[in-house]
Amino acid sequence: MRNRVGRIAGTGRYLPARVVTNDALAERLATSDEWIRTRTGIRQRHIAADGEQTSDLALAAAHIALQQAGIAAANLDLIIVATTTPDMIFPSTACILQEKLGAHGGPAFDVQAVCSGFVYALALADRMIASGMARNALVVGAEIYSRILDWNDRGTCVLFGDGAGAVVLVPATEPGILTAHLHADGHYRSILCVPGQVQRGGVVGSPFVHMDGPGVFKFAVKVMAEVAQEALDATGMPSDAIDWLIPHQANIRIMDATTKKLKLPMERLITTVDMHANTSAASIPLALDVAARDGRIRSGQHVMLLGVGGGFTWGSVFLRWT
Ligand code: ACO
Repeated sequence: MRNRVGRIAGTGRYLPARVVTNDALAERLATSDEWIRTRTGIRQRHIAADGEQTSDLALAAAHIALQQAGIAAANLDLIIVATTTPDMIFPSTACILQEKLGAHGGPAFDVQAVCSGFVYALALADRMIASGMARNALVVGAEIYSRILDWNDRGTCVLFGDGAGAVVLVPATEPGILTAHLHADGHYRSILCVPGQVQRGGVVGSPFVHMDGPGVFKFAVKVMAEVAQEALDATGMPSDAIDWLIPHQANIRIMDATTKKLKLPMERLITTVDMHANTSAASIPLALDVAARDGRIRSGQHVMLLGVGGGFTWGSVFLRWT
């Protein structure tokens, strides 16, 4: 066991005020609440206001997490923001967040691993704390997907929403984070992508999400179960040791299939996708915050976080709640 490990000392979440229900989408698109709910589990999504930026969503979630952890923003050592929808090309959303928080001096950077971004960022922050590079860390997943969706494409726009979730990590001698496993395979990059590029003052290629739905479905179920098993093998624990499973909140059918593959009772699956749709890098910390605050996750329990997303990227963070 390492001498120092990361421990989550605070969580927070923020969803923009505007709620768009499936019925509201069905008023202007050839879709229905029934189609969306039965295929994805989604009932509604939150949409950021004009002028609201990813860093604003991140800031609101971060304040709550910092307050719970009892750490002043000025004392933050490290800020990592996982996002695919940054405020701008550069500087990073993490640097903008740092300025909005009134912190300065410590490292701040974004992680771009699409829907796996939070798991990637949490794994990195844990290792930076374990190595002594940072004494504490703010890790945020924040997204405004509503701005990269074609709102006339019913195959994609019904699936996503905006939001942010945050955790504060502090050093501990007892875990905390037990193990993390990260993967990617660029061969699958075209089944989920936004291919557009900014060039010479314009966008070349599509600036909207493109997705091979059935391809993504199959890939996600396979790799999430595999990377959960990898974490169990590394810790020598049986799958029954997982008290709570928090997979990426994209689609209830993907989550159900993953839970079944791991032979876990459905009651151990935490889902919030019905309330906010797929918020990409924000989805896991959003669900974690809900379950931590409503008292489901209790001290000493084991929580498996599973990310999967464009790239393709995937990964797990397995932790003991303290
Ligand atoms: N409303 C009504 N009909 C629709 C809609 C909609 N919103 N979207 C697609 N359809 C239609 C299609 O046009 C198609 O019609 P057709 O048969 O006349 O051509 C029909 O529904 C079936 O389409 P399929 O794509 O075969 O539907 P499927 O049952 O596979 O469900 C879905 C589609 C929900 C996207 C599914 O493939 C899926 O869950 N994939 C996973 C994708 C996902 O979760 N992506 C999130 C991002 S990925 C990530 O975060 C890792």
